[in-house]
Amino acid sequence: MAEQPAERARPGLASDAASAAYIRKRGRDFIVSLYGTLRAIKLYPVEHTAVQKTLAELAGIAQEIALRERELEFRVSGEFIFINSTRLRLDLTNYASFGYLLRLCRESGIGTLRVLVDATPRSWLVLLSLIDAGTTEESQDRLDEILAQLHSAGVNDLEIAGPVEHESDLESAEESRQAVTRTYTQSVAATKDVINSVRMGRTPSIKKIKRVVQGIVDQILNEETSLIGLTAIRDYDEYTFTHSVNVCIFSVALGRRLGMTKIQLFDLGLSALMHDIGKSRVPLGFLHKSAELSEDEWRHIASHPWLGVLVLFQLRGRYEDVSYRAMTVAYEHHMRGDMSGYPKPVRPRSMSMTSKIVAVADGYDAATSRRVYQTIPYPPSAVLQEMRDNPKRGMDPVVVKAFINLLGIYPVGTLVVLDTFELAVVHSANPNQGALSRPIVRLVSDALGNILRPAVSIDLAQQDGNGDYPRTIIKTADPERYGINVGDYFIQ
Ligand SMILES: [Fe+2]
Ligand SMILES: [Fe+2]
Repeated sequence: MAEQPAERARPGLASDAASAAYIRKRGRDFIVSLYGTLRAIKLYPVEHTAVQKTLAELAGIAQEIALRERELEFRVSGEFIFINSTRLRLDLTNYASFGYLLRLCRESGIGTLRVLVDATPRSWLVLLSLIDAGTTEESQDRLDEILAQLHSAGVNDLEIAGPVEHESDLESAEESRQAVTRTYTQSVAATKDVINSVRMGRTPSIKKIKRVVQGIVDQILNEETSLIGLTAIRDYDEYTFTHSVNVCIFSVALGRRLGMTKIQLFDLGLSALMHDIGKSRVPLGFLHKSAELSEDEWRHIASHPWLGVLVLFQLRGRYEDVSYRAMTVAYEHHMRGDMSGYPKPVRPRSMSMTSKIVAVADGYDAATSRRVYQTIPYPPSAVLQEMRDNPKRGMDPVVVKAFINLLGIYPVGTLVVLDTFELAVVHSANPNQGALSRPIVRLVSDALGNILRPAVSIDLAQQDGNGDYPRTIIKTADPERYGINVGDYFIQ
């Protein structure tokens, strides 16, 4: 089937899209309101106006959605929240509410909540008070208990049930995973194109590069963790290109944590992607040399910051929109905070904020990658520690702190040994910012060293019925020693 015109013309597609857009917006209001009501119930007596007000608002939003969409179903699946069939996006404004609701649902064994059009504030109050009561029981028992209590309170306009894995959830997760991988591979390809054309003396298309950065910024704003996960692939043969893309991803994610606007993030991303563009003017033989460099060879490599400024100036001659910020970053990214790096400035100066961010992203990616002259990369957690504790690295402490918060103490791609003697690869930082040492991992092998296929994902912050953690990281390990390619755990 080469063409699918019938599929495209299917009536209702436009309204599907409109409905998804509506759900994304109002669904988020619903979640925020649900969270606000739960908080109010926790803080105040039931008669308090804060409780009454939030309850009325929640019932109102729920009714509006149920009327317009003819249904309202709240569903949790893994780390995602769905309203009807639309997955809600996690961002900075709803971070707290998402994490809180996911945890409450997990603890009380709730997978879905169907809200009927006429659900009253009283029903909401009964249900939310029950959920919020907290317990150490098994989640299934807890769910049965809540169901029984809802029944005896005569609540029949809110229906809860245990978790169900919907095929469409898997599809949707699969689709978003594919979209992320596409963003990453396209970015690497476009970067390769640009660097190679500069090397061959051609003028690269800046349009392509702008599209790449736009894609990365959108993806990071939409869902931070997945793209960061892909930086762990670190393709040895394509180091120069993946390095530029990784530095761009880390910088944008960092800039976002530091409160930059979308336009600032775009500018930062472009500067980060081009930070090493000067290397395309350095002979390849020097860049790829595994033996120690002679002083002359080193001088060539150390000239890439100002060579980068020249390349960007030439590009600016052609395209107005290469910012001066990108030139500053190319020039300053190896200078270090105390100016002990290179090039040595003639007059006293300090690095710009953009350069400080790119320097942290650059230093991290370079140290954790395998290259010709660095056959054994440093474990990510050790690199972070060094960046934080060794002042000679010249990294900005505030930026490093934000970076550690972004990656967790055990960054994505770290191989870890658990107290169960299982091996696991860190897949993403825990969405709960309080759980820096309990990331989401993929199990690589069982306690006896048998490789597990497919690798199962585990949230290390999840507690058992007694409030204990079934698995805890005891140390990091060297993937090389175990013959493990951590990148395999990010692309399947
Ligand atoms: Fe560099
Ligand atoms: Fe670099």
